[in-house]
Amino acid sequence: EEQEGQARFDAVIAQDSRIEPRDWMPEGYRKTLTRQISQHAHSEIIGMQPEANWITRAPSLKRKAILMAKVQDEAGHGLYLYSAAETLGTPRDVLNEQLLSGKAKYSSIFNYPARSWADMGAIGWLVDGAAIANQVPLCRASYGPYGRAMVRVCKEESFHQRQGFEILLELAHGTEAQKKMAQDAINRFYDPALMMFGPPDSDSPHSSQSMLWNIKRFSNDELRQRFVGMIAEQVKVLGLTLPDPELRFDEETGKWIHKELDWVEFKAVIAGNGPCNAQRLERRRVAHSEGAWVREAAAAYAEKMARKTE
Ligand code: ACO
Repeated sequence: EEQEGQARFDAVIAQDSRIEPRDWMPEGYRKTLTRQISQHAHSEIIGMQPEANWITRAPSLKRKAILMAKVQDEAGHGLYLYSAAETLGTPRDVLNEQLLSGKAKYSSIFNYPARSWADMGAIGWLVDGAAIANQVPLCRASYGPYGRAMVRVCKEESFHQRQGFEILLELAHGTEAQKKMAQDAINRFYDPALMMFGPPDSDSPHSSQSMLWNIKRFSNDELRQRFVGMIAEQVKVLGLTLPDPELRFDEETGKWIHKELDWVEFKAVIAGNGPCNAQRLERRRVAHSEGAWVREAAAAYAEKMARKTE
């Protein structure tokens, strides 16, 4: 049966078609997807914190409403992704426990602090921008539930990116102090946003297998340089600059060149030692325990409704 399953799986991958939850799949494929999708879900949930931090301080009612809606969207993304991950067999409780215990990874970017209102702009433009560049190809991931979840997530992310850009655009046309605040936010978020694409290809243990399985479509470095090319043009519209003296388009290779990133810092952040790791996890643990009554009430209600329809 296993041989038959493997042959069918290989054929589906070769045709660039989709694997669905009940299909046979190699254990490694299941494991890689559970890891990637759950890390992605955790990132969405932890990623609510830096922005939630600014909701009460947003400069107007309109900005507050937009920011609240955006943070709520991130929660929704987390939920679709946990659902997609669960179809691979690991229950949501287990995935959640991996996050709360500090065992599971989530995106490095959310371990940096959001210090000013302009950071809401930089996060939307650069962080959500990098997320889109990374996730659009994932809409074609071979695992059906993941690819389909990505379609909606990417549409919402595009909205988020534009709202971030618009915050920066307004600040860039404001007073000298506002312009300086926008530039400072870009200066702090540029390197961490580029690190979101993951380690360099030469140090990316999962990439080659994930490409063979049609989970990843492009390498980490490939997507990173593509993203740099996009923001190199967009920053001109803002009249601001990217903190990268080495940034240029290389005619020969047709690729964008950017500065070397600090991979020692990246490793420290994903190992749990970034500026906000402890604070982010602690906040999540508190939110989880404070939300216990909601989960209990929802379960009691579901049970009551199930009894009624019997
Ligand atoms: N932050 C934290 N961990 C990372 C990051 C990062 N930016 N980049 C890579 N890693 C981890 C990997 O998860 C992997 O860890 P593990 O082996 O302990 O599980 C290790 O570093 C090695 O990296 P790769 O071999 O390159 O791993 P992979 O093939 O999974 O590629 C990538 C990493 C590109 C992030 C991929 O997992 C991916 O595309 N994920 C989906 C997108 C995502 O999670 N986005 C979250 C942020 S966007 C947002 O939430 C708004």
